[in-house]
Amino acid sequence: EKGGYDYFMLKEIAEQPRAVADTLLGRIDAAGSLTLDEVRIPDSVLREVDKVVVVACGTAYHAGLIAKYAIEHWTRIPCETELASEFRYRDPILDQRTLVIAISQSGETMDTLMALRHAREQGAKVLAVCNTNGSTIPRESDAVLYTHAGPEVAVASTKAFLTQLVACYLVALYLGQVRGTKWGDEVGSVVRELSEIAREVEEVLETMEPVRELARSLADKNTVLFLGRHVGYPVALEGALKLKELAYMHAEGFAAGELKHGPIALIEQDLPVVVVVPSPRGRSVLHDKIVSNIQEIRARGARTIVIAERGDEAVRPYADHLIEIPRTPVLLQPLVATVPLQVFACELATARGNEVDQPRNLAKSVTVE
Ligand code: M6R
Repeated sequence: EKGGYDYFMLKEIAEQPRAVADTLLGRIDAAGSLTLDEVRIPDSVLREVDKVVVVACGTAYHAGLIAKYAIEHWTRIPCETELASEFRYRDPILDQRTLVIAISQSGETMDTLMALRHAREQGAKVLAVCNTNGSTIPRESDAVLYTHAGPEVAVASTKAFLTQLVACYLVALYLGQVRGTKWGDEVGSVVRELSEIAREVEEVLETMEPVRELARSLADKNTVLFLGRHVGYPVALEGALKLKELAYMHAEGFAAGELKHGPIALIEQDLPVVVVVPSPRGRSVLHDKIVSNIQEIRARGARTIVIAERGDEAVRPYADHLIEIPRTPVLLQPLVATVPLQVFACELATARGNEVDQPRNLAKSVTVE
């Protein structure tokens, strides 16, 4: 049932182009507009929404952090993303005009379930983004947008994450569409780009051998740091989480702009630092800033592992290892930038002799608070 792969995780990483395509299927019509019929929250209610709150745990939380960038950009509705386990304990401000999005692969995560129950008690509308048909979280929500990743067996979430991103982009674009926001015009072109994305994920998968080789060469390290900015910041967090849970290594993700506020003190000779570089187009200020971050850490001895868009020549001189990814619109980059980090963590775990599909101390779904 592992389809010829040594681990479910490898199989699930390889299934990502299909999972992404399936999650888009039937949700974009020939004219390029979105039809999310299953989202039973009427457009009239969605037009009144004045705040979006995303709640989730672990990898799903990282998808939620990226959703915030997309939702605020395409809809101009304020959006916050919160760890489900923290949410209800601070007595959050919620009402009928709040849309809560609960993201969960399993649909059974207790922290997320308790957060959504609390939100509904306060009168908020809850939309679940979920991969498991008929599970508790979608049953208790007002509406559900299913991700079509298929069953995810490995404890480390991979294909579910990519499809959660796709679902969040669809929700953000749909909200933009029904509300006719200023950014509504952009919807058409992003939708077209989304339909290319499965092929681009495939392209990334075909070029992963150097990443595996690099991972094996780092098997005896104790720490790896991850840096990113904008949507690359949650990608950095996700890369670090994967490495912790699979390789049992100390790994931490930072917003690159925070380096100078403390973490740069951690940089020492030969410390591997993975940097997710934003597209040089569109957000060029951020790009320049991250290039100087790479220079700074390299000057202090870091071994720089740089994930950057193909053709981004500005980073090349400072990259000890360059991992090139296809060009995508700025907000969609996490769909291609995360894949090398999954492969990296999986290979490092294998090189360290760890059990990839069943890491120690972890369960696939966490049904206690
Ligand atoms: O089933 P869920 O998406 O609600 O699970 C949330 C987290 O427990 C999950 O993403 C966890 O962080 C994964 N093991 C990460 O790979």
